[in-house]
Amino acid sequence: MPPETLPVIAAQTVQPGEFKKIQSLTYEVAGIDLREGKEALVGARLNKRIRELGLKDVSSYLSLVEADRTGVELIALIDALTTNFTSFLREPQHFEFLRSVILPALSARATMRIWSAGCSTGEEPYSILFHLAQALGEKQLKEVEILATDISTRALSVASSGIYAASRMKELPEAWRKRFFQRGVGEQEGMVRVREEWRSRIHFRRLNLMEDFSSVAVANVIFCRNVMIYFDKPTQQKLVRRFAERLEPGGWLLIGHSEGLMGMEHDLSYVMPAVYRKASGRKG
Ligand SMILES: C[S@@+](CC[C@H](N)C(=O)[O-])C[C@H]1O[C@@H](n2cnc3c(N)ncnc32)[C@H](O)[C@@H]1O
Repeated sequence: MPPETLPVIAAQTVQPGEFKKIQSLTYEVAGIDLREGKEALVGARLNKRIRELGLKDVSSYLSLVEADRTGVELIALIDALTTNFTSFLREPQHFEFLRSVILPALSARATMRIWSAGCSTGEEPYSILFHLAQALGEKQLKEVEILATDISTRALSVASSGIYAASRMKELPEAWRKRFFQRGVGEQEGMVRVREEWRSRIHFRRLNLMEDFSSVAVANVIFCRNVMIYFDKPTQQKLVRRFAERLEPGGWLLIGHSEGLMGMEHDLSYVMPAVYRKASGRKG
């Protein structure tokens, strides 16, 4: 077949040496443990970026990543390889626990801090905020700080814009849709946007969990759900310990239901599936 009639290649071929380089870059930078056998997936994920840049293959793309001293292309590489799947009210047991256990336990506090670590496109921190808004009065709500962080600039830009396809609200009660969202009109038909008065209550920030986060204010609750699943055990263990340091005594760590802290050494106690708690420090 003459070259001009060759079909368009849907994914990039990733040679073993290239895959090894990508594996070590993603592990060193983001803690992501890309297992053998993911070559085709990596090729498919990088294809779009390689085309956007007008490059011909993975090898020339990796040369560009290495030559880019700003680190911007490395972030784009990590962005292309991370999975941002999320949804409103995902794993609803956690929101029920927030409403029925955590909020009553913290009700006497003057302030409350919640950190959504690995917030992706924002559905998780907005779900937290909506529950708080339903449960607390305005005066108390003003004293709540919600920090939402992710390594992915692409996911964070969606999160801070608060713009979603209307179909993504299907899990939310009708009254919440009205209270928290405005509907797009004209060209924005079919889209919704979290109202500015709610969006502005969440502080979105890029944060790589592999880097020092000791500047993050100590929180009462940390949500880190479906993020550690991408890390190997030693990386997970270190992260859990660092999270425990960023928790107030008596604070909670919520992880994904498919994740677990079994076999890890840490100072948190098991409360129920995917919920752990730091000792309150009170005697008796
Ligand atoms: C599957 S999403 C989970 C979103 C949300 N927490 C949930 O449960 O629906 C995983 C997120 O972890 C983020 N992530 C992966 N590695 C990270 C790292 N080293 N630091 C911060 N975020 C990371 C990804 O960018 C992605 O948005």
